[in-house]
Amino acid sequence: MDFGSVWAATEDCQRLGLTKSIGVSNFSCKKLADILTLAKILPAVNQVEFNPLWNQKKLREYCKANGVLLIGYSPLGASGTLWASSRVVENEVLKEIAEAKGKIVAQICLKWAFEEGVGVIVKSFNVERMKQNLEILDWSLSEEECKRIGDLPQSRGCTGESFVSENRQSRSFGMGKFDYIFILKNSLES
Ligand SMILES: NC(=O)c1ccc[n+]([C@@H]2O[C@H](COP(=O)([O-])OP(=O)(O)OC[C@H]3O[C@@H](n4cnc5c(N)ncnc54)[C@H](OP(=O)(O)O)[C@@H]3O)[C@@H](O)[C@H]2O)c1
Repeated sequence: MDFGSVWAATEDCQRLGLTKSIGVSNFSCKKLADILTLAKILPAVNQVEFNPLWNQKKLREYCKANGVLLIGYSPLGASGTLWASSRVVENEVLKEIAEAKGKIVAQICLKWAFEEGVGVIVKSFNVERMKQNLEILDWSLSEEECKRIGDLPQSRGCTGESFVSENRQSRSFGMGKFDYIFILKNSLES
């Protein structure tokens, strides 16, 4: 995949006024570094998996140092989807913190992300849960609670196995073309 050409064409979209902002998705520090050396317009965001069990510490620091906002997808671990599990919403530490605060685990995850300065995109088709997911502003997590969450063992939820062919000869490309469309659409609507 020729990332340089794709990024240059994406920059043209912004120059032509087709979008206000452009970004990348699922970019590691290495891939981001490659784009940053070529880019005339920096990616506004890097959208990656982010939740208490995959907190992207290194990538977050790299993004921050380079002026790229890290946006977290699957902040609840994408429970209920085909590719993920309920390991985040069923995590015992998160459950304990939620119970002590009179909140639900989803709110603990979203509040923690908010306090970490990460923008999250959480998905729900349920109106009640959408409301719950917004009710994170008028209370706080203590330092100790944040530390407990920060100390949770880390592992990636989305391993990308489904993007690898059976004979493991080919991989899908890492520049999320659908995410560009996503960003473009939101930019035009705002
Ligand atoms: N860039 C990428 O490569 C990439 C990859 C994956 C996902 N994404 C995007 O990221 C967004 C969110 O990620 P995601 O859907 O993977 O994961 P997610 O937001 O962590 O989890 C969604 C799941 O959580 C449930 N849920 C939502 N609010 C809840 C609550 N308050 N309590 C209990 N369960 C709750 C939803 O069920 P209900 O609908 O029944 O509430 C749904 O099953 C999506 O828009 C997706 O398109 C991007």
